[in-house]
Amino acid sequence: TDQPRLVVISNRVAVPKARGAAGAQGGLAGALLAALSDRKGLWFGWSGQESESGRTGHIDTQTNDGVTTATIDLSQRDIDEYYNGYANSTLWPLFHYRLDLAEYERETGKGYERVNERFADQVTPLIEPDDAVWVHDYHLIPLGERLRSRGLKNRIGFFLHIPWPPTRLFVSLPYHERLVRTLLYYDVVGFQTQEWLESFLHYCENELGAEVDGEKGTVSFEGRTTIARAYPIGIDWDHFSQLGDAGEARQAQQRLLSSSRRRTAMIGVDRLDYSKGIPERIDGIGRFFDKHPERVQDLVFIQIAPPSREDVDSYQAIRAELEQKCGRINGARSEVDMVPIRYVNRGYSHEELFGFFRAAKIGLVTPLRDGMNLVAKEYIAAQDPEDPGVLILSRFAGAAAQMPDAVLVNPHSPDDIAHAIQTALDMTLEERKARYQKLIATVRDDNVQDWTANFLRDLSEA
Ligand code: G6P
Repeated sequence: TDQPRLVVISNRVAVPKARGAAGAQGGLAGALLAALSDRKGLWFGWSGQESESGRTGHIDTQTNDGVTTATIDLSQRDIDEYYNGYANSTLWPLFHYRLDLAEYERETGKGYERVNERFADQVTPLIEPDDAVWVHDYHLIPLGERLRSRGLKNRIGFFLHIPWPPTRLFVSLPYHERLVRTLLYYDVVGFQTQEWLESFLHYCENELGAEVDGEKGTVSFEGRTTIARAYPIGIDWDHFSQLGDAGEARQAQQRLLSSSRRRTAMIGVDRLDYSKGIPERIDGIGRFFDKHPERVQDLVFIQIAPPSREDVDSYQAIRAELEQKCGRINGARSEVDMVPIRYVNRGYSHEELFGFFRAAKIGLVTPLRDGMNLVAKEYIAAQDPEDPGVLILSRFAGAAAQMPDAVLVNPHSPDDIAHAIQTALDMTLEERKARYQKLIATVRDDNVQDWTANFLRDLSEA
């Protein structure tokens, strides 16, 4: 076909040497791997490695399974200021509505701009005139403007994988206006949900004084027009739904079932991040046990939580908190031959996760705030249609807008989570099947291939 070549740019790149286990790498890397496997393209970003070679301009190019990646190392200072600093100690908490955790340091802001400048320097020579360029996530918001200032005439799009916060929170960011202005150098800016899009448009209209056409999904400012729309991301259905046939998936399912014997397994799989609401989830489970001590012996909860961003203080704090909570409940509720909470700090392959999801009759996905959350979709995709499990889903995950047939909860309320567990345990097979049928339709039909196609169609027509 005559599709233009696609150049994807993101901080995290799923290069084989840095390719984490499925639960550890987050939704972005998996989705982009799928998007690029289907078309000719190039994926540029950080190698995940530290070295001083960033200064020499060395680019590591590899092709694996048909996907070509070009990555650069970052220096320790860049990693501290740009990745651990501005991206993950300022923007990440702020965009997840956590003003209490957001740090504002001038130095890290400068490091963020410096690394965006370096990305622009390094990637510009790799871009050909007809390429479509697609930049991803909060690490690289100013990159489009940096590319334009180097004379790039290509179509350039941006997709934000995390929420966009309400204007009243967003304005607590020093130089917020400068950051948002850079977004309006893109031809298309995409969000996960209507809610995040509306917050962005509200800011553009009320803080920037831009002209917003909500119907058409455009923002006009200083003579340029940017398309701003919602493009909900999905899973790679064709790939994921086949995983059940893999021996590894069956073994994982068997392993979980035989080790929990007659007990009903519940599962959570999240990067160890405070936005995921894991301690709050444990509190909800603790509350359920307090209310129904007779059911402790019928249940086992498995929390898979690979550590993430371990050099950032708030991540060390959440890990300590979680260890304490799990330890307390297990200390109080275990028997010599039974532990109610299995807490695991490692990632697993997609095949294994498929097997665990299928063995678990309840999936707990209860983030306090989440751009989309693909674990919710993977859990549904792994269920047995004849005997499906129940998804308990936070109303504050972007996925809730597409998945109203999950059992929706307020993740801040332990009573609400405890009640949802009760509802799930008592649910008839008939109701489980009815909910599953509706959920599987959106997981199957709104998949990652459609997400890519919808975004790139708007980009080509921009
Ligand atoms: C989220 C972000 C991604 C990020 C992923 C993993 O999904 O939206 O940009 O890649 O988390 O986090 P990490 O810091 O390891 O890249």
